[in-house]
Amino acid sequence: METVRTIKDLRTQLKDWRKSGHSIGLVPTMGGLHDGHLSLIASAKKHADKAVATLFVNPSQFAPHEDFATYPRNEIGDLEKFENSGADLIFAPNVAEIYPDGHSTKIEVQGISQVLEGEFRPHFFSGVATVVAKLLLQALPDVAVFGEKDYQQLCVIRSMVRDLDIPVDIIGASTVREADGLAMSSRNHYLTADERKIAPALYRIISEIAEKVRSGQRPVDQRPWAEAELTRAGFGAVDYLAVRDAESLEPVSDASRPARVLAAAWLGSTRLIDNVAV
Ligand code: PAJ
Repeated sequence: METVRTIKDLRTQLKDWRKSGHSIGLVPTMGGLHDGHLSLIASAKKHADKAVATLFVNPSQFAPHEDFATYPRNEIGDLEKFENSGADLIFAPNVAEIYPDGHSTKIEVQGISQVLEGEFRPHFFSGVATVVAKLLLQALPDVAVFGEKDYQQLCVIRSMVRDLDIPVDIIGASTVREADGLAMSSRNHYLTADERKIAPALYRIISEIAEKVRSGQRPVDQRPWAEAELTRAGFGAVDYLAVRDAESLEPVSDASRPARVLAAAWLGSTRLIDNVAV
C-alpha cells in the first residue's frame, strides 16, 4: 500500500491502474479510523479492483467553534489500519494541496442541505460537498463508498453527483455499531465513561420510533415521548429527532414511501447523530 500526498501523484498511480484495466473504488475519510470506516474499504473492494482511501481532515466543513483543531489525528495508526483492511492506495494531502491560496469555489446543494443537520450546522454540507466533489474529480473513481451513519451526507452527495453529472456510482454502506448498539464514530472518544454507558439509548430510541411507525403510528406523534426518553436516559438538548422521506428528507407524506428516523442529540459536550430505516 502506497501513500501519496499530491493530486499529481494520485493521478499518475490511478492512470497506471486504469491502463491495466483495473476499476477504482474511492473511500473518503477524515481518519480517526474505526471498524465503520474499514467496512467501507471492504465494500469498495467488492465493487472495484482497487480501493483508494483518502485521509484529510477537511477544514471547510468545520465551523469556527467546532472541533477542527482537536479532531482525532493519528496518521501512523490510521495508515496501519488501512493497510490491514486491504486498501491499495492512500491519498493524504495537506490543506494547501486541497485549498491552495486563492481557492474560491464552493458547492452548495440547495434544499436537502438546509434541513436537519443543515439547520444546526449551516456551513457543514457546503464544506462536505466541495471537498467530496474535488476528491471525486481528482481520482475519477468508478465507485465511491459512503456510510449510512451520516445518512444526510450520503443524500447530499447523491444529489450533487446527479446534478453535476459526475460519472461515479455512489454506494451507501450500512452503519457499523458497537455490541451495545452505539454507532461507531471518531467522536465517541470524546465521551466520558459514564456518558459512554448512556450513549446507546439514542439507537434504542430511534429503533423504537421506527418500530412504532412501521406498526402504523403517526410519525409526527413520536417526538415528545422519544425526547422525554432521551432526557430520562441522561441526554441533554435534542437538536432534531424526525421521521423523514428516505430520499428527499422531507416530512413524510406518503406512508408507502421508504422513511428514515434521524436524530442528533447532545451528551455532555459531545453531539451524537444516528439514523435507522423505518
Ligand atoms: P468521516 O467522519 O471520517 O467518515 C468517513 C466515512 O465513514 C463516511 O462515509 C461516514 O459515513 C463513514 N462512517 C463513519 N462512521 C461509520 C459507521 N459507524 N459505520 C459505517 N460507516 C461509517 O464523513 C466524513 O468523514 C467527511 O464528511 C468526508 C465525507 C470524508 C468529507 O470530508
